[in-house]
Amino acid sequence: MAAAAPPPLPTAAPVEALPETKLASHPLFCRIRLANPSDVPHIHKLIYQMAVFEHQTDQFTATESSLSSTLSRSQPFQSVTVFILEVSPNPFPESNFNPLYKPKVQILNLDHPIDDPEKETFKSEGDDVVVVGFALFVPSYLSFLGKPGFFVEDILVRECYRRKGFGKMLVTAVANQAVEMRYGRVDWTVVDRNVNAIKFYEHMGAKVSPQYRICKLTGEPLQANGN
Ligand SMILES: CC(C)(COP(=O)(O)OP(=O)(O)OC[C@H]1O[C@@H](n2cnc3c(N)ncnc32)[C@H](O)[C@@H]1OP(=O)(O)O)[C@@H](O)C(=O)NCCC(=O)NCCS
Repeated sequence: MAAAAPPPLPTAAPVEALPETKLASHPLFCRIRLANPSDVPHIHKLIYQMAVFEHQTDQFTATESSLSSTLSRSQPFQSVTVFILEVSPNPFPESNFNPLYKPKVQILNLDHPIDDPEKETFKSEGDDVVVVGFALFVPSYLSFLGKPGFFVEDILVRECYRRKGFGKMLVTAVANQAVEMRYGRVDWTVVDRNVNAIKFYEHMGAKVSPQYRICKLTGEPLQANGN
């Protein structure tokens, strides 16, 4: 008797395309932490980018060693303080951090991965972690309030990372710290041609006061007044 024909092999179920949003989700781990001495080369480059952006490279005389000596003498939040914002496609490794500030980590879901032409220059820990931006701020005193505050000297998100929420993370981190320390205000200045930053600050709820002018005593007049 002839053997019965084997049953037909099951055919694979057709692959169902995932909705576009699922296919396009690229999680990016973001962390804000206090700068440490090994960040100085990155901070130096970021400040230089700030000077380029503000067309003030002629004023840029900071060196890695001048920054290093200032930052190494600064107690975070009592003097010049730098928050570093960095990203990684993978969870951040556990590291030892300054006990004065617990790093803030959050995950951003992007539609597309970010193509970072300066990735090699801004690598900060292993192969994955890249510095995206920074905020540099100092304590101030608000005599009308009788309280300290923070003055933000620089805030910068590298160009390829802009408009994705990173600037907001930096401002929020400084504001959180001010609230935690019961400080009265966070101030900074912005040049009036920097329309993007002004829109960004207004979006964050900041009041932009056009009636103030910045006074700078520097160079020869500083020496003349100081002698
Ligand atoms: C200003 C700067 C820090 C903003 O950072 P960013 O990462 O691009 O800003 P974010 O993506 O976090 O934007 C936060 C909010 O502001 C809004 N915003 C940002 N830039 C904006 C713009 N040009 N126009 C309108 N709204 C803007 C965003 O829509 C976002 O709103 P959302 O929370 O509803 O999405 C960044 O553009 C930068 O580094 N610029 C160059 C340096 C500079 O100008 N520094 C400030 C000097 S004073």
